[in-house]
Amino acid sequence: MTKPFYITTPLYYVNAKPHIGHAYTNILCDTFARWRRLIGEEVFFMTGTDEHGTKIDKAARDQGKAPKVYADEMVPEFKKLWELLGIQYDYFIRTTDSNHKTVVQNVLRDLEKKGDIYKGKYTGWYCTPCESFWTRLQLLEGKCPDCKREVQELSEDNYFFKLSKYQKWLIEYIEASSTFIRPEIRKNEILGFLREPLEDLCITRPRIRLAWGIDYPGSKDHVVYVWFDALINYISGVDYSVDDKKFKKYWPADVHMVGKDILRHHAVYWPIMLKAVGVEMPKTVLAHGWWTMSGAKVSKSRGNAVDPIELCKKYGVDAFRYFLLREVTLGLDGAFSEDLLAERYTSDLANDLGNLWFRIAAMLQKYTEGKIPAYQYEPEILKASHELNPFKRTSEFMASHDPARALNAILNVIVLANQKIEIEKPWELAKDKTKKEKLANVLGNLAEQIAHVSVLLLPFLPETAGKILRRLKLPTEWIIKDEKEFEKPLLKAGISVEKGDALFPRLDEEKVS
Ligand code: MSP
Repeated sequence: MTKPFYITTPLYYVNAKPHIGHAYTNILCDTFARWRRLIGEEVFFMTGTDEHGTKIDKAARDQGKAPKVYADEMVPEFKKLWELLGIQYDYFIRTTDSNHKTVVQNVLRDLEKKGDIYKGKYTGWYCTPCESFWTRLQLLEGKCPDCKREVQELSEDNYFFKLSKYQKWLIEYIEASSTFIRPEIRKNEILGFLREPLEDLCITRPRIRLAWGIDYPGSKDHVVYVWFDALINYISGVDYSVDDKKFKKYWPADVHMVGKDILRHHAVYWPIMLKAVGVEMPKTVLAHGWWTMSGAKVSKSRGNAVDPIELCKKYGVDAFRYFLLREVTLGLDGAFSEDLLAERYTSDLANDLGNLWFRIAAMLQKYTEGKIPAYQYEPEILKASHELNPFKRTSEFMASHDPARALNAILNVIVLANQKIEIEKPWELAKDKTKKEKLANVLGNLAEQIAHVSVLLLPFLPETAGKILRRLKLPTEWIIKDEKEFEKPLLKAGISVEKGDALFPRLDEEKVS
């Protein structure tokens, strides 16, 4: 039996509502998960929330609430957005779940037994918004190197995890693997970071300073550092140290999707934590770039957050998904602007895909009583001129984590189908009685083309692809294992096709800013 494809998102801090950056990560993961399901794999897709630590404690206090009460109120904001965006996750984990806490404590006890944890004094500079300790050397003009805000000097008794003991092993592991850190430039970045000696990681906070965290086993005075706690979700979510059979079924994770800002946690701390407890490495840590506005990362604290709900209301969920997946190559930063979104909407979705559907459905209504005529199926239409089979191309691009190019390959088929209409001119064939068969073949094959395209689009634009398939009286759930299977005809002559509303109505000029 093959192992299920296990894909994770980072756990989102609950101190603010999700914005476009969070939506992006989850849309990417959802698309990969849906793709794997489409090709017949069992999938386990996990997302969730990171609820401990100073940030959340402070946000709760600002509202006069207990942190858990505050987190309980924020979690539905995330779940609501995931539902709106069509995110089909299998499990939602919260770091306040009791199972997660148990696993964190099990891991800590194990690390203590192995001698990888020691008690020491920590002096450092702490940035509260980033939850990060910095050494003097790391500070930039005395400020936090990430957010450039004020830092506080602190010295306290804490527990430390021996990262340094594993540095050599980690460097060798990363160097030897072409798949562990993707894309390649991020691998080089991490190797660059590892050229300097690794400092051991302070993994607790004194309870007198911060009580909102998981109890450190065996100490009344400490709670676990939020990052150490949160990373463990990837194994606690599949019951590490609790249910061996379940853990073995899912682990190792196939993809940990993360933003480039949290790559170090996932490509340095996390593998060392796993190595220390003797757990296999995840297959790939995949770092995507940032959505920026006026050159700065979109973030709630910078006050430039873009609300995904508003954009979905205006353009539709699929247009939003399409834009994020198509506009930038996974790994690079993308400048967000609503104008660009509107442009993509009009050119790719309304003019290419929406128009293709409209033309095919309208011609079927006009020339064949709204029915799929009897036709001679020509599978080569799928290969759109000299292109390869679009299923094969999509598979390859998805395997190399490139949904933008996968979408481009699918869109090419749509463009070619629109061109085919211009070349074949069904309206002229319809005038000539002797061309009836030819007309039926052209229309039948165009319908096949859009049906196949829709199946391929299911992971990317689930709502729109589902709509087209339903209008063609086809199922919306498919398993396509290879290109041969993909090439099979999908439609039956005689079925009635519903034209329906415009898939991507023209944008109201006034609505678009
Ligand atoms: N809680 C930690 C992750 C713990 S994982 C064990 C965290 N949370 S976060 O809410 O601040 O960020 C979560 C993810 O959102 C990160 O991967 C981050 O890169 C991503 N994004 C936040 N803003 C972003 C953009 N503007 N653009 C793209 N993604 C960005 O970090």
